Amino acid sequence: MSEAAPQPKENMGQPAPRIDGRLKVTGQAKYGSDFQQPRVAYAFLVTSSISRGSITGFDDSEARKVPGVLLIMTHENTKVPGEFKFFGSGGEASTAKKPLAGNWIDHDGDYVAVIVAETYENAREAAYRFKVKYDAQQPTATMDQPNTEIHEASKVSTRHKDSVVGNANEALAQSDVTVDAQYYTPTQHHNPIELFTTTCVWHGNELTLYEPSQFVVGMKYGLAHELNIEPNQVKVISPFVGGAFGSKGSLTPRTCLIAIAARQPNRPVKLVATRDQGFTIATYRAETRHHVKLGAGQDGKLKAYWHEAWEMSSRTDDYAVFGVDATSAMYQTPNIWTKVHIVKGDRNTPGFMRSPPEVPYMYALESAMDEMAVKLNMDPVEFRRVNDTMVAPATGALYTSRSLMKCYDEASKAFGWEKRNPQPSSMRDGDWLIGWGCATATYPTQMNPCAARVRFDRQGNIRVQVAAHDVGTGAYTVIGQMAAIMLNQPLEKVLVELGQSELPPGPVAGGSVTTASACSAVKGACGLIQTKLFQRTGEDAMKDVTPEQLAAAFNRFGSNVIEEYHEWVPADAKSGDAEALYQGKNTITGGPLKNRTMFAFGAEFVEVRVNSRTREIRVPRLVGAFAAGRIMNPRTARSQLMGGLIWGVSAALHEETEIDERNARYVNDNLAEYLVPVNADIQEVNVILVPEVDDKVNPAGVKGLGELGNVGTNAAVANAVYHATGKRIRDLPIRIEDLFA
Ligand code: MOS
Repeated sequence: MSEAAPQPKENMGQPAPRIDGRLKVTGQAKYGSDFQQPRVAYAFLVTSSISRGSITGFDDSEARKVPGVLLIMTHENTKVPGEFKFFGSGGEASTAKKPLAGNWIDHDGDYVAVIVAETYENAREAAYRFKVKYDAQQPTATMDQPNTEIHEASKVSTRHKDSVVGNANEALAQSDVTVDAQYYTPTQHHNPIELFTTTCVWHGNELTLYEPSQFVVGMKYGLAHELNIEPNQVKVISPFVGGAFGSKGSLTPRTCLIAIAARQPNRPVKLVATRDQGFTIATYRAETRHHVKLGAGQDGKLKAYWHEAWEMSSRTDDYAVFGVDATSAMYQTPNIWTKVHIVKGDRNTPGFMRSPPEVPYMYALESAMDEMAVKLNMDPVEFRRVNDTMVAPATGALYTSRSLMKCYDEASKAFGWEKRNPQPSSMRDGDWLIGWGCATATYPTQMNPCAARVRFDRQGNIRVQVAAHDVGTGAYTVIGQMAAIMLNQPLEKVLVELGQSELPPGPVAGGSVTTASACSAVKGACGLIQTKLFQRTGEDAMKDVTPEQLAAAFNRFGSNVIEEYHEWVPADAKSGDAEALYQGKNTITGGPLKNRTMFAFGAEFVEVRVNSRTREIRVPRLVGAFAAGRIMNPRTARSQLMGGLIWGVSAALHEETEIDERNARYVNDNLAEYLVPVNADIQEVNVILVPEVDDKVNPAGVKGLGELGNVGTNAAVANAVYHATGKRIRDLPIRIEDLFA
């Protein structure tokens, strides 16, 4: 992998190194469990060893003999005072099920008890000695097993509406060429290196929560709701997050339990859940099944897109990612029909995991597109070109900008695609069958209202405050860059404060909204400062201002410091969205809207080599070209996209949380057996940033790209494996054994 950061080009910012990099590499960056508390006690969770049934009794006699045990909380002695509202229904909670509310067990690793002791080791020992008796029932592990419940997503959730345009069945019957195929994506867990930790400290009636969070404001209001206290009694501190990927955006039940636990001995209580507990007390990417039909004419023009999908969820919550919103906007098609089902079993509730809808649904669509290109005997890039569109067919709404084919052109050139022989198994290097595949990546351009406070002094020091989050993506840096541009100061002069609920409210670090939302808010606040100093605004407003002119402007203004607060609301926001920002509620807007369509795009090309004797699959080359509007920082952007491509290979070839279908329990709930690629699995990764100007999306001109990189990769790998071997694998991950027989 080459190390050089790309040079700034059109609509590309400076490739500044991360302003928090030094803190991180010197160990000074404080993560959730790094805040030391005097007199802290330690909690350890007892979680269920059955997946369905009831608790019939406890024996805590051995546990209580462990020295230092302070508290054992179970459903017999604990009552959560407030309400839990599921995040999928606009609430805060990862599940609507209140913990310790009764003796019923809904899934493997459900909450049974919390043990608090003087030391971590005491608490863990007591948890191991705490005996639980169950009346177990036969659980349902996954789809296609007995006793699932199946609901239409659009009937149980108002957020989901299936697309029906024209008559897809009729168009399929009249198409020259059709594809009709089923695809499957497995369960996956985020496995952030930082574990799920929570530390709660009460000072009188005031609670401070230290927890790695993608949504500090949401957690403040959500936890108050769950504890039935006033939001102004809760403060959330989370300046650094050691990986999240969606798993730290909603409030898991542990937080409220630790807050209750810390009330009782009235000392700070810290929980660091174990790696395997993280598989069941937090969320995950659920398995999905897809039935896709495409119809096309001999000219390659799509006539119909038909997509029925099934997504796994829990007994307690109706969670669905509903990726047909995105897939229906991808290509010009006069006839569309989609339907999504939620399949309920005895599982913990799934949740967001990077590009939640796009990863599984685009895998299905882009695999089917490749199958269709093969049937049409058409180059897969040309097939996408023929069906490229500036109008989302399901809504008729224009794209604000769309550079998909530019991405294909740049990536295919860098990859050397023109040298590809389309015949499967035709390209070889000794024992190795070479396969080249490609697929489209996309992610909706989404935004959320966001507030920011900026302080500027006559020495040129800038302080930016916003309750946004840097989950490892570079948010500190790009938010600081916007202030530095507006106020014409070097980045070293900017101090950025994020990750605290008491700062001006910002959105969840989800849906790739942070850069677009926070940079638009910061731009607005800086614009107010510019106006006070120079009576003009804009990114160039202070470009030629000398230090002398700046001093004179401060003199005129009559103060050494200016502080401004700006609340930014997206153009497409609904009434009430600004107020919701101050109540810890997300009101994300964007993607396929009624009147306009906003997506970032990419084209991903993969070379696989499949050993003709052992069927070992290697990935020597990945090329991705991406267009996402303005790139605030090509270095951090490239790093996100490279990570996405590598994650895509992981999903295509390695990752799967295995479920024992007999007892509905996860088998490989550890980092040794949950497979991800290591350095030796990833060789050349080439990220190309395609310049794109879109001044319609938001004041910052940013589309967002955190979740763009891993979207096309599953299909690109699968399409390359088909090209290498002639075998179409429709069930991820693709494994050596799939390529025999
Ligand atoms: Mo991301 S899965 O929207 O945190």
